[in-house]
Amino acid sequence: MKKIINVELKTRAVGLSECKTQMLAIGHFSDDKKPLPEIIELCKKLGGAVEQVVKLGDFKGKTGTSALIYGNNRIGAQRVLMVGLGEQEKATIDTIRQAAALAANKAVSMKANKMAVAIHKGFGVKFESGLLAQAMAEGIYYGSFRYDEYITSDEDGRSDSLVVEVIDDNAAKTRRLDEGLLKGAIIGKAQSYARALANRPGNVINPPSLAAEAKKLARSTKGLSCKVLDEKQLAKLGMGGILAVGSGSKTPPRLIIVKYSPKGKASKLPTVALVGKAITFDSGGISIKPAQNMEQMKFDKTGGIGVLATIKAAAELKLPVNLYALVPSAENMPSGTSYRPGDIVTTYSGLTVEIQNTDAEGRMILCDALHYAVKQNCDVIIDIATLTGACMVALGTHKAGLMANDDKLTKQLQQASETSGESIWLLPCGDEYAEEMKSKVADLKNSGGRWGGACTAAAFLRQFVGEKKWAHLDIAGVDCFEKPTASAAEGASAFGVRLLTTYLMNLTGPPLARSRPGRADTKAGK
Ligand code: BES
Ligand code: MN
Ligand code: ZN
Repeated sequence: MKKIINVELKTRAVGLSECKTQMLAIGHFSDDKKPLPEIIELCKKLGGAVEQVVKLGDFKGKTGTSALIYGNNRIGAQRVLMVGLGEQEKATIDTIRQAAALAANKAVSMKANKMAVAIHKGFGVKFESGLLAQAMAEGIYYGSFRYDEYITSDEDGRSDSLVVEVIDDNAAKTRRLDEGLLKGAIIGKAQSYARALANRPGNVINPPSLAAEAKKLARSTKGLSCKVLDEKQLAKLGMGGILAVGSGSKTPPRLIIVKYSPKGKASKLPTVALVGKAITFDSGGISIKPAQNMEQMKFDKTGGIGVLATIKAAAELKLPVNLYALVPSAENMPSGTSYRPGDIVTTYSGLTVEIQNTDAEGRMILCDALHYAVKQNCDVIIDIATLTGACMVALGTHKAGLMANDDKLTKQLQQASETSGESIWLLPCGDEYAEEMKSKVADLKNSGGRWGGACTAAAFLRQFVGEKKWAHLDIAGVDCFEKPTASAAEGASAFGVRLLTTYLMNLTGPPLARSRPGRADTKAGK
């Protein structure tokens, strides 16, 4: 089986023209009137090719576009990739992340093994070097990722390793760049971990095999431990929601509990619970879905996998926070043993739920995990789930829905969204929506009326968090790319990993033990 690409990142103090490499990526703003002297020198040495590509109108510097220029004996690089950055005024930290991703994507397709990146030049004043390097590292991992572990023959091929040098002729700057690369590589690897797992189909990833992956993750990461509740333990605890959803499948449900305890004064630190929906395949159950696009429902586990990847990153970043990744996992299948419409399920919290639609299964597994988080006395609970088609109808494929019962937490997540480039939009989940979820024969029902499905689903979840600070991310529209983009392969997006990791980084300030600055060597395999 093909392995995911091995990426290595480092810095090098070298000038643009001198840098020997297979591909040199530079940025180009669409409205840049005064390019840096270094860029002008490089262009001069390329003998008019850059001016030509711009003059002919082949490349306008728009975001998501690039132009490839071949090197000559006057420069060190075999190829120069000009990456569009759009208008200078509009550039954000995500502009550079996407540009780096595009460059890495191209390099991998061209089977280059060595790339040099100088896209940060020109962003200099707007953002701090460490942050620029972090974003570039995240982008490089993102753009180089391919999901092809089951492809046995491929005419086009791809490089199986990529060494990237972030270059700068100012040696004093490379130290800050190095620190950023180190962080970005941790987050980048976490994203790739999530994408690789999430892309695996339902016949490979089921609740027990996902639990085995979580155990493996905990074994290989310092500070993590993992406990898995099987169907017998779930029954003993009374987790009726998870059990009901899992009852139709041959592969039994699980509750995966990964804990990160930082070294030192853990008891004084806040405790955050991340709860992620992991339906390994959502057929809809007895309320079965139409056949069209049903294969996409292998991505119904992306919330759960996202929180596993986030706790991996948090542990590797040594963040000073107590953290839980709670992953309720089940396969939603129709069979003679399935739960059915009309059933009344007693959840872990004691609240009873009338099942109106077995396809509204996400909330039925989340409610048990949320109550578990409340029982652990977590200070903050954030859940993330591919919960409703309604959220996708409302926000499309560009933004995730955010619903919460706490203004400060809302602001913190919105702030994390800005830096991480994972876009969210606030939606309501107040009492008027909760009203719609009341049942005549039980405390709640699992499906509201026709309208506002994302909001009623969130209002249902809110019933299980009591007074705890809570936020909910509905990622139904953003969990995967249907088609490849300039900066990403098709398939799972790992949405939430950067957002949640950034939230935790902001919450905790500088890491407990600063990682040793130096070479950002990022051999994968952990
Ligand atoms: N996993 C789906 C939501 C989904 C839809 C995710 C499209 C990604 C793309 C969820 O379990 C579901 O089926 N929700 C139902 C709820 C309804 C029956 C109340 C929906 O949105 O139709
Ligand atoms: Mn469903
Ligand atoms: Zn689902």
